[in-house]
Amino acid sequence: MTGDDPLEESESGEPRAGESATDDGERSSSALRSDGGAAGADDVALDPWGSSSVSDYRKLFEEFGIEEFDEVLEEVPNPHYLMRRGVIFGHRDYRPVAEAMREGEDAAVLSGFMPTGDPHIGHKLVFDEIIWHQQQGADAYALIADLEANSARGMGWDEIDEHARNYLLSLLALGFDPEEGELYRQSTNREVQDLAFELGADANFSEFQAIYGFDGETDISHMQSVVTQMADILYPQLEESKPTVIPVGPDQDPHVRLARDLAERTRFFKVSEAYASFELEPAERDLVAEFYDRLDPAVFDDDTLRCVHVADALEETPLEELDVAADALGSVLTKLNEAGMEPVRPRTRFFDRRATEAAFDALVDSIDGEKRVYESHVDAFDLEAGEAEELAREVEVDNGGYGFRPPSSIYHRFMTGLTGGKMSSSVPASHISLLDDPEDGYSKVKAASTGGRETAEEHRELGGRADECPVYELYAYLLSGDDDEFAKRVYDECTDGERLCGDCKEQAAQLMKEFLEEHQEKREEVAELLEGADIELESPRKV
Ligand code: TRP
Repeated sequence: MTGDDPLEESESGEPRAGESATDDGERSSSALRSDGGAAGADDVALDPWGSSSVSDYRKLFEEFGIEEFDEVLEEVPNPHYLMRRGVIFGHRDYRPVAEAMREGEDAAVLSGFMPTGDPHIGHKLVFDEIIWHQQQGADAYALIADLEANSARGMGWDEIDEHARNYLLSLLALGFDPEEGELYRQSTNREVQDLAFELGADANFSEFQAIYGFDGETDISHMQSVVTQMADILYPQLEESKPTVIPVGPDQDPHVRLARDLAERTRFFKVSEAYASFELEPAERDLVAEFYDRLDPAVFDDDTLRCVHVADALEETPLEELDVAADALGSVLTKLNEAGMEPVRPRTRFFDRRATEAAFDALVDSIDGEKRVYESHVDAFDLEAGEAEELAREVEVDNGGYGFRPPSSIYHRFMTGLTGGKMSSSVPASHISLLDDPEDGYSKVKAASTGGRETAEEHRELGGRADECPVYELYAYLLSGDDDEFAKRVYDECTDGERLCGDCKEQAAQLMKEFLEEHQEKREEVAELLEGADIELESPRKV
């Protein structure tokens, strides 16, 4: 076991999933903990419209800045089994959502589904995530991404309607409460379209090119579907800002990052720390902060630390002791020397990004304690950063702004296809549709590839490779439900060599059949509930 793999480390000290070799002989990071499953496949590019498979989850942390879910797990009240088993492996900024749920404060969850085919057991992960957050008290939203299906996948409206209905029935059958939560389709949600338009004013083509690889051939509707998704993600905050989580697969991370950026761009003020009247770049600010802590004002003439003092001290410090690039050092020295005798004092800065004059004045009025007002910023000397954030949001909202909080996200692993490769809607044998005849579900599981050894004898001797086994994944992601002990028993028995593939598949197939029977019965029961729900089931559009 290599220690540098973040996914391999288990805080609980539980045994992790067994070895799974990659091409270069190293351990793959796709192994889950012992009560989890495994994921596989080929690349790590995050492309919302490409093939969604990830072979190396570690890269998502290192290259894309997704954080490990394990690190917030303890802060989550009553965590879902997908969280406990590491199926939900990553997040961006999930803490505020966990905290709000813990404290009984407002929070929201939203995700969307492109109605391009039947809902399958991979979509069930997202349904479950939405429903779980709803049960923890969050406002829940689920949307049908019909504009995206039409523009990015070329689906006709008739097909879209049929698939949309199937997604919604499964979502309701699994426990989504449409009276508490909200369902909508992108094409008929006027507020979403209006918000999309507004957000589109803060994004441009070059950016879409860089993020999504769009080019001159990309049709405009596809771009419109992107701003629509941005609006979807911020929609729960339209009435009132609140921590919001978007549960998705990691292929959607580019959308999440853009939405976080756009949310920020709509804000009136940017709150930051500052040390003097002028602006410093982050690297420059770190340097000044360090010297502010290091230098003792008592050694200067009038007990005051001034900009020149910091500049002098910086100049006297050998370059190799400073953790900074040469150009940042040059520019901070220039700024400090120009400011000369101005005292260095920490403060909280409200930078005016796009506030109206009235909002700026209102902000100035509402700052308690010592403050200084400049052309495009206000400095407050008696205000903590957290209080300042709240104040900035309050003033913004009072003055007609959105006050958006950056949306958070959680990421689940992709399921491995039953046939070994990636699970794909276009390969029926690779996945189990929630609409599959239960007998077919049974047969697909029986025919699935496994992590078993060549012979039973070898299997008994060496143990099975549960974390390379699509069937074990079914147990971990779905068939064990909330029963961790069962999932772990299956895992242990397999890797100990006691559990042979034939019986294991028989049990899984039977459970899958029962699950499908029960789910499909529930789908029928909720049909009426769906008719009564506030969502248009038929598109008024022409073919
Ligand atoms: N793009 C998503 C997909 O391909 C669907 C989607 C649309 C979505 N809007 C969303 C997902 C908002 C999460 C949040 O499946």
